[in-house]
Amino acid sequence: MNLKKIVGYEAVEWVKDGYVIGLGTGSTTHYFIEKLAEKIKNEELEVLGIPTSYQSFFLASDSGIPLTTLEEHDVDLAVDGADEVDPLFNLIKGGGAAHTMEKIIDQSADKFIVIVDDSKMVDVLGKFPIPVEVIPPALRIVKEQLMNMGGQPDLRMAERKDGPVISDNGNFIVDVKFDGISEPGKLEVMLNSIPGVVENGVFAGLADEVLVATTHGLNILKRV
Ligand code: 5RP
Repeated sequence: MNLKKIVGYEAVEWVKDGYVIGLGTGSTTHYFIEKLAEKIKNEELEVLGIPTSYQSFFLASDSGIPLTTLEEHDVDLAVDGADEVDPLFNLIKGGGAAHTMEKIIDQSADKFIVIVDDSKMVDVLGKFPIPVEVIPPALRIVKEQLMNMGGQPDLRMAERKDGPVISDNGNFIVDVKFDGISEPGKLEVMLNSIPGVVENGVFAGLADEVLVATTHGLNILKRV
């Protein structure tokens, strides 16, 4: 059973005619974008997409989804994946190094829904290291400050390219391990206060709904 596919496909039910949709990044949103293209075509909808990454841009444009930008439109609905989700809908994102644009688009949306399989649900955030996007010349001093905050920073290395991952914005990604994150909102603000940090992958309290695919069916969790 492909749970990512189930939840990605199901999420198109949240799309209404005339919507501008924030298109998240990752393997789960891949299925959402695929199904959204089909829905737009079959139902002749006037829907526009705003991609959060080159990955979602290429997939959406290849699938025929009309695209726009934040300069031209507000976002009605953003649909995005996550690496971890806690019971208060705090997230860790950025497994695909796209969290900066994802946060800009997801937080600007009237409604932000997260699509995950149940392996992403945790009691406390922190098994997954927090991706932090860093301006390259600031790397050493940012790493020092992350260690002073109790984190273990690790520069993300590329596969099939020598050297580090370079984000869509031309920056490094440092994955930072913290032991159990008790106050995600505070940590999110602290990380972004380090000069040289562009954005971090903690999304505290942004999500409105979380759709969780399990082997027993789909759970729709709404913010209370
Ligand atoms: C990319 C992200 C992704 O949404 C997150 O990594 C989840 O990915 P996947 O759906 O492939 O498990 O934040 O930066």
